[in-house]
Amino acid sequence: MNSKKLLLIICSVFFVVGLSKAQDHDYIGAPKCKMCHNKAAKGSQYDKWAAGPHAKAFETLASAEAKKYSADPQKDAKCLACHSTYHSASADLMYTIKAEEGVSCESCHGPGADYKSPAVMKDKQKSLAAGLIDPTEAVCKTCHNEKSPTYKGFNYAEYVAKISHDDPTTE
Ligand code: HEC
Ligand code: HEC
Ligand code: HEC
Ligand code: HEC
Repeated sequence: MNSKKLLLIICSVFFVVGLSKAQDHDYIGAPKCKMCHNKAAKGSQYDKWAAGPHAKAFETLASAEAKKYSADPQKDAKCLACHSTYHSASADLMYTIKAEEGVSCESCHGPGADYKSPAVMKDKQKSLAAGLIDPTEAVCKTCHNEKSPTYKGFNYAEYVAKISHDDPTTE
């Protein structure tokens, strides 16, 4: 290989690494969000999530039903991709989040390490720039699709109502 070509390869590797660094944010886990998002007057987001289907998604993989589809579902990367936030992104981004959390806040809202501070969170544009994601139907469908061995179909309006954790003080 000539040196010009080598230089080109080295440059593009740095470019790609640089790009992914700019987009990668660490995962902090639901208990960190709870500090600010569990007041009853503002919608008890943490308690609603903890009582809902997503919080138990990792636990579900230990059930007899789950073992119909895999010998060891809690260790099967195929299942974990949709049943665990902790196991669905690069290990070096898992900061304080725990494996047992199942599908937690950050699978829908984006990894929180860089938007969690009050100064950023109070400003929607700054939050979006720091990794906050507005959860849309497309986000749900990354997991609610035919690749799920138990897929039952997905109706956004109906499903989003089932997991609703609206803040009644915002519009
Ligand atoms: C230090 C407190 C704090 C922490 C920690 C925090 N937030 Fe927030 N968050 C806020 C504040 C303040 C707002 C502005 C709206 C309000 O007053 O409730 C907000 C707004 C939001 C919104 C609404 C954005 C919109 O559409 O306007 C979402 C979604 C959100 N936070 C998710 C999270 C998630 C997920 C985590 C954990 C990864 C988290 N927050 C951690 C304080 C916090
Ligand atoms: C990271 C993957 C993932 C994402 C993203 C996701 N879900 Fe889920 N969802 C699951 C899994 C896994 C279950 C099954 C949990 C269990 O039963 O243990 C589930 C279950 C549900 C259920 C309960 C279904 C039932 O049969 O009772 C509802 C409702 C739901 N999700 C709504 C949503 C909505 C709305 C969105 C988007 C805003 C969404 N989900 C995004 C993985 C995901
Ligand atoms: C399965 C995806 C999903 C998960 C998991 C999830 N959310 Fe949400 N969240 C949504 C969607 C969709 C909306 C917008 C619709 C709504 O308010 O119900 C939303 C809205 C919000 C809002 C804004 C409410 C408002 O009315 O301004 C906050 C704050 C929030 N979520 C915090 C959290 C926290 C904290 C967690 C974890 C404890 C969490 N969410 C888990 C999908 C999710
Ligand atoms: C593409 C994402 C995805 C993959 C991959 C996936 N699941 Fe799921 N799983 C879901 C969703 C979403 C649900 C909620 C119900 C539905 O629509 O299937 C769910 C629900 C379940 C349930 C509860 C079923 C019920 O009716 O309540 C079990 C058990 C389960 N999954 C086991 C597994 C096992 C075992 C694997 C690996 C072989 C796996 N899943 C792979 C997304 C996925």
